[in-house]
Amino acid sequence: MDVRPNPSASGQRLGRYQLLGEIASGGMARVHVGRMLGKGGFQRTIAIKVLHRHLAQEPSFVAMFLDEARLAAQIHHPNVVQVLDVDALDGVLFLVMEFVEGVTLADLAAEAKRRGELLPIGLVGRALLDSLEGLHAAHELRDSHGQHLGLVHRDMSPQNILVGADGITRVTDFGVAKAAGRIATTGSKDIVKGKLRYLAPEQVSLEDLDRRADLFSTGIVLWEALTGSQLFGASSEAQALAMLLTCPIAPPSTVRPEVPLALDEVCMKALERQRSQRFSSAAEFGEALERAVGGGIFRPKDCAKYVRELSAARIQQVRERIGSSHSIEAPTEEEALREVFSPPEGNPVPEEPLSHDRPPAAALKPRPSTNGFGARRAVVMGLALASAVAGGSAAIAFRGSAKEAETPAEPRNPVHTTTTTASAVQGLEVTPLFTSGSNVAVVTPSEMTPTNASSSAQNQASSAIPNLGAPSGGPPKRPKTPPKVDGTKVMKF
Ligand SMILES: Nc1ncnc2c1ncn2[C@@H]1O[C@H](COP(=O)(O)OP(=O)(O)O)[C@@H](O)[C@H]1O
Ligand SMILES: [Mg+2]
Repeated sequence: MDVRPNPSASGQRLGRYQLLGEIASGGMARVHVGRMLGKGGFQRTIAIKVLHRHLAQEPSFVAMFLDEARLAAQIHHPNVVQVLDVDALDGVLFLVMEFVEGVTLADLAAEAKRRGELLPIGLVGRALLDSLEGLHAAHELRDSHGQHLGLVHRDMSPQNILVGADGITRVTDFGVAKAAGRIATTGSKDIVKGKLRYLAPEQVSLEDLDRRADLFSTGIVLWEALTGSQLFGASSEAQALAMLLTCPIAPPSTVRPEVPLALDEVCMKALERQRSQRFSSAAEFGEALERAVGGGIFRPKDCAKYVRELSAARIQQVRERIGSSHSIEAPTEEEALREVFSPPEGNPVPEEPLSHDRPPAAALKPRPSTNGFGARRAVVMGLALASAVAGGSAAIAFRGSAKEAETPAEPRNPVHTTTTTASAVQGLEVTPLFTSGSNVAVVTPSEMTPTNASSSAQNQASSAIPNLGAPSGGPPKRPKTPPKVDGTKVMKF
């Protein structure tokens, strides 16, 4: 495991957030562990996802990023990573989340594999059950009028499932989630989003999606976590897609014989290519999973023990990173009270509204900023532009923008925005604490053979993969010897 301490990141600031080290970096953003600093010595460990600087100038990416914050912040569930804040400073756009001490399911499986082990079935059962409960909460999300948002995560994958050292598993990364009323134009028919290896067939064929697409993806996650193997491991994206559309799927027990028949059946039902044959909801999937794993399912404390043992080194390094940055000593009681009751001169605090009602316009006037206003205004203009592109009716309200005084079409989401000055940004060039590939695959149809050309995808599959046999139809048999799932070999992580 590549774990690099990152002393250079220590102490860097984004307003009232202190960056302590980078956890991951992907195509859209970097994720850091950090600390929220408040009055009177208040501190909280948080995770900060910072949109790459060049993308913060692109209205479509800004709108997507804000959508992620807006949607995820509305989901309140113990199995969904809580979004706490979103803000922009000097052209740096970032999202603040609860920090989950633990590892991704992908990391956990990789670590088990390094040790020549498979994840215990009881652990897989608990982690997936938690994930399905979190996913169900997301699928059930409604707006303040009780209207179902029809949210689809679209990127369920082991990298977006965080298994906590507290034994609780949480779903994260609603970066490409789609919901009715989403502002960013990510749902356009000519683009597919999500990690290629975990897409549902209907995502590839550009059909309208519903929650059942996430159930297929979670089925792949379950299959892989049980077997320690890739389901659609292929040497090219085209081959992976062809396999997704046509390759027979063998039950997990063909790779790991101890998987009980009932669990095989649950997994295979989730992996039905016809979505009408799948579970109808994540809750139903979860209930069936729980029954199938039976009494052997891990309790959260068993999960906690396993994660702490298997990922001890990684968890310890993050802890050290957080602990070694304890530069802020707790103030005395007198200092704390003085800080609370004496706002700094020249920075008057506007009266805050007591409820989530629309605040008085006066309180929303942009504050004078000592520097960096130009960059910030660029982001705000980007947002306005993105909003306009999307039709503009669902207003992106952005703190500091004069637009904010207008009545938004939608009620304000509970993403908490903070008041920070642009001058508080102190550089973001940091080296990683962890390196981990990230991940959102953005694939255009030309790269991936859509289904209205599915016959051509099948032809491609047939030529790329020998001995495919008939596409799967009836219930799976339980062969005694592991079949060649991809026609050549079972690919490993
Ligand atoms: N709240 C969090 N707590 C701890 N680690 C996190 C958190 N959010 C993300 N991560 C880590 O950062 C990685 C990337 O985060 P994610 O939101 O999935 O971004 P991306 O859009 O780049 O996939 C995750 O796979 C996980 O390792
Ligand atoms: Mg991710």
